[in-house]
Amino acid sequence: MLYGADYNPDQWPEEVWDEDVRLMQEAGVNIVSLGIFAWSRIQPAEDVWDFEWLDRVIGKLHAGGIAVNLATATASPPPWVSATYPETLPADESGASYWPGSRQHFAPSSPTYRRLAGELVSRIAQRYAHHPAVVMWHVGNEFGCHLPMDFSDAARDAYRVWLRARYTTVDALNDAWGTSFWSQRYGAFDEVFPPRLAPYSHNPSSMLDFRRFTSDMLLECYLLEREILVAAGATQPITTNFMGPFKPADYRRWAPHMDVIADDCYPDPANPNRVRDAAFQRDLVRSLKPGVPWLLWEQATDAVNWRPANAGKRPGALMAETAQSIGRGADGIMFFQWRQSRAGSEKFHSAMLPHAGTETRVWDAVTALGARLAALPDLPPPGRDARVALVFDWESWWGVEERDHPTRIDYLALSLEWYGALHRRGLMVDIVAPESVDDGYDLVVAPLLYLLREEGAAALERFVAGGGTLLTGPFSDIVDEHDQFRDGGFLTQLGPALGVRFEDFGAIGGTGAGGTGVGALPTRATQTGGSVTFRLGSGAYPGRLVAERVHATSADVVAEFTDGLTAGGAALTRHRHGDGEAWYVATQPVAEGLEAVVGQVVRASGVSPVVADLPRDVEAARRGDLVTLINHGDTRVDIAIEGTDAETRALVDRVRLDPQGVAFVLVPRTEIPSSASTRGRAVARHPRP
Ligand code: GAL
Repeated sequence: MLYGADYNPDQWPEEVWDEDVRLMQEAGVNIVSLGIFAWSRIQPAEDVWDFEWLDRVIGKLHAGGIAVNLATATASPPPWVSATYPETLPADESGASYWPGSRQHFAPSSPTYRRLAGELVSRIAQRYAHHPAVVMWHVGNEFGCHLPMDFSDAARDAYRVWLRARYTTVDALNDAWGTSFWSQRYGAFDEVFPPRLAPYSHNPSSMLDFRRFTSDMLLECYLLEREILVAAGATQPITTNFMGPFKPADYRRWAPHMDVIADDCYPDPANPNRVRDAAFQRDLVRSLKPGVPWLLWEQATDAVNWRPANAGKRPGALMAETAQSIGRGADGIMFFQWRQSRAGSEKFHSAMLPHAGTETRVWDAVTALGARLAALPDLPPPGRDARVALVFDWESWWGVEERDHPTRIDYLALSLEWYGALHRRGLMVDIVAPESVDDGYDLVVAPLLYLLREEGAAALERFVAGGGTLLTGPFSDIVDEHDQFRDGGFLTQLGPALGVRFEDFGAIGGTGAGGTGVGALPTRATQTGGSVTFRLGSGAYPGRLVAERVHATSADVVAEFTDGLTAGGAALTRHRHGDGEAWYVATQPVAEGLEAVVGQVVRASGVSPVVADLPRDVEAARRGDLVTLINHGDTRVDIAIEGTDAETRALVDRVRLDPQGVAFVLVPRTEIPSSASTRGRAVARHPRP
C-alpha cells in the first residue's frame, strides 16, 4: 500500500529537509509526489537549469527509504515564460487573456508552451529516468482543473486543424453541425472560431465538438510528455491525477494512456451526500481500468482552503474515507500535501504535517493511519465484483447540458441520485459507458442516455436480449453523436427493446434540475415549480423535469401518471425482450419515488447486496475476496459476517464498528442464487453453487 503526499521542498529552506524525511518515516510514508510546481526553481531563466537541489532532495528521500513519484513540473510555467512568450497564455470566451500570477496559465494547444514544456520534461527525464528512487512519473497536474476551456488564438488555430482531421471536407463539417440553420454554413475550415462570446446560443453540435477538442488538447499535452519520458528510457509507470467526474476531460478516452489510474478526491465534510458522492467517484475511477487497482493520489487530512467555508473532518473520517477508497479498489493513499505551506494561496489547506506541528490531532490521525495501512496484507485486485452497472457518459453530459432544451438538467447531480438509490441498497456498482455494457452484469441502470451512439444502443439491446435487466430513465436516445435528431423520432434505437414509442418530452414548468453541482439538487419536486404524480403499487410519487408522453406498444404499463398533461399515460413500463427485460421510466422520480422504482427493478433483476441487512449508515464494498465495512453513523453497531479479519488474521463471525469504524474481512466469493429472479437468466449465465 503506497502512503504519502505531494512534497514541495522547494517552498522550504534546505535545513527542513532532513526533518521532513525523519517525520515521513515516523508517519509511515513510503512515497511522495515531488516537484509538481517546481518549474521556476528548476529553470529559473530560459537558459539556466538548476537540478542540484533536486538531486539532493531525491538523494535524501532515497537514503530514507522513501520512493519518488517524480513530477514533470509543467503545471505552472515560470514568470519568464509568460513575459517572453505571451502567446502561451490562455483566453476566456471574450478573448481576454488569463494572466500569470496563479497557476495553470497556459494554453494547452500553444505550440510554444508545448515546446518549452517538452524541453523541461526531456531534461528531467534524461537526468532521472534511471534513478533508483524514482518509481513513478506524475505528468502535469490535474489537467484542465482551473481552465475548463481555452478560447485563445492558439486554440483557434489548433481547433481548425482538429476539425480538418475529423471531417476532412468542410461539407462534412457543415452536415455534422447542421449549419444550414441560421446562415452558419462554412466555406473553409479557416472560417471556424472557437465558440467565443456570441449574441445568443452557439450551434450545439459545434459546442459538442469544442468540448471533444478541449479534452483532446489536454490529453495531447499529457501524451507529449509521456512520449518524451518513454523516449528517454523511463520504464516506471506514467500517469497524471484525475478528478473523478470532471466534465472537461473524457477520462474514458484518457484511461488507456495511463499505466495506472490516479485520482484526487476531496469529499466536503459539510455535504450530507458526501459518502454517496465519494463512493460514486471511486467506483467511476475503478471502472476506468477494470481489474487494476487505482491510486488515491490526493485527499485532505482535514480542511481545504478553496470552499466558501472549510469545515474540518470529524474524528475517524480520515480512516473511513481511506477505507472507502481501499474497499473500492485503491492501492495507494496520498494527500495534498506533506508539510503545510507557510505562504501562498494554500497556506490554510491542511497537510500531513500541520503548521502547528506534531502535537496535533491531524498528526496523530496521519501516523495512526500509516501504521494501520502498513499492517494490511496484500489485498486482492478488484475483480468483476459488480453485477450492477450505472451508465455514465461524458458526451451525453456535454450534450444534455447545452441550452435551449425542454428543461435544464444537471447530469452529474441526476446520475448521483440514481447511483444513490443503488448505493443505499448496498449493491456494488461499476460506472460504465453504454458501449461497455456486457453480460457480466445482471442489472444496468441508465439514468439518462440523451446522446446515444449506435454502438452503445447495440450493446444495451444485446444485453437485454441476452438476459439482462435494463432500467432506462427519461430524455434518452434523443440525439446522435453530432447532437442531431435521428430520422423517425425518438427512442428510435431502444424503442423495440423497451416496447414503447416516444411522442413528446412533456417538460414540467419551473426551473428544472436547478443547482450548480453536486448536492445542490432539490429533493422535493415542488422546488422545481411544477411536478407530476405517478402511482406505483400503493404509493403516489412526484416526478420532476419531464412527464413524457410515451405509448406502450408491447410493454406492460407498471405505473401511470395521475395528473398533469400526461395524466393516464405510462410513467413506468416493463418489457420482455429476448431473455431479459427492459424498463423505462418517463419522468425523473424524486426521493421515495426513485427508491420505489429502483427497488422494484432491483428485486426483479435478482441482484443482491455485498452484505445483506446492513444498518442504514453502514457501507460495504467488495474487492475480490475482501469485504470492507464502514460505519458512517454515530452509534456503535455489530455486523454478522463470517470470514477472516484481514488485519489480525483471526476468524470472525461478527465485527463491531464504532462510529467511523472500519473492518476489512476476507470472505471468499460465493455466488448466492437469487430467490427473487423469476427468469433465472443470471443463474444460467453465471453458474452458481
Ligand atoms: C488539487 C491540486 C493540488 C492542491 C489541492 C488542494 O486540486 O492538485 O495541487 O491545489 O488541490 O486541495
